[in-house]
Amino acid sequence: MGLGIVNLMENIVPSLEERLDKAEKALERSERMAVASRYASAIMHEVNNPLEAITNLIYLTKLERHDPQQVLDNMTVVEEQLKSLGKVTSKALTFHREQSEAKDHDLVEIAETALKLHSDRLSRHGISVTRRYRGPAMAFVFGSEILQVVSNLLLNAAEVLERGQGRICVSVKSCPNSMHMTITDNGPGIPDRFATRLFEPYLTSKVSGTGLGLWLSSRIIEKHRDTLRFRTSRREGKTGTTFRISLPLATKA
Ligand SMILES: Nc1ncnc2c1ncn2[C@@H]1O[C@H](COP(=O)(O)OP(=O)(O)O)[C@@H](O)[C@H]1O
Ligand SMILES: [Mg+2]
Repeated sequence: MGLGIVNLMENIVPSLEERLDKAEKALERSERMAVASRYASAIMHEVNNPLEAITNLIYLTKLERHDPQQVLDNMTVVEEQLKSLGKVTSKALTFHREQSEAKDHDLVEIAETALKLHSDRLSRHGISVTRRYRGPAMAFVFGSEILQVVSNLLLNAAEVLERGQGRICVSVKSCPNSMHMTITDNGPGIPDRFATRLFEPYLTSKVSGTGLGLWLSSRIIEKHRDTLRFRTSRREGKTGTTFRISLPLATKA
């Protein structure tokens, strides 16, 4: 009888262990799948930006076809965007690996490139853009990634602005210990329930939003060991939102 129980236990115990082991493996697999699908959506988001930019540039080039210099300038930006698409695909193959290096970049140039990339969208929405560029603008950054952040912030602003009444101000200024770039809009502001978790993935108020733009952006700025902050107001007559990116100063003065 006693022996019978021992035999029984021996049969049960290994099978329990086996089952636990299996469950653990399944969990691990589903964890890996979740991470992979998160990266897949992030990468889709990164592919969409250059695609949209290239579409815009083709449209612009058709309009500006009589100005050879302009056509050439546009093609140079198309080339850069195609390169960054290529980088995204290679990133898709090796998720985490870092490919580019931080270098000294002109933030005004990055801001202007982003504005140019989305000029079609901005003008279609009747948005007026002001620039405030003060002092030196060099920062030590991963250039294409900062371009991605500025693009995300500009598109987010454009998406909340009312047709014909929208204003966006882009500023770049140098501070004693860092460079600051801000993007301000006079949109409706961010409701509290969103503002408290704005940088979480998948948080979106849009029907076809991914909720990944700000999450990605904050990760990019974190990688620079700097900050992405925002201030927002929903006060009647004074609504709007400002995002401020702080970035490391250039290595060469
Ligand atoms: N400038 C802004 N003004 C008002 N709301 C904003 C602004 N920028 C972002 N948001 C809010 O934050 C949410 C998350 O933005 P984001 O991460 O870029 O994802 P998505 O644009 O795909 O929704 C948006 O859906 C929107 O509700
Ligand atoms: Mg967005």
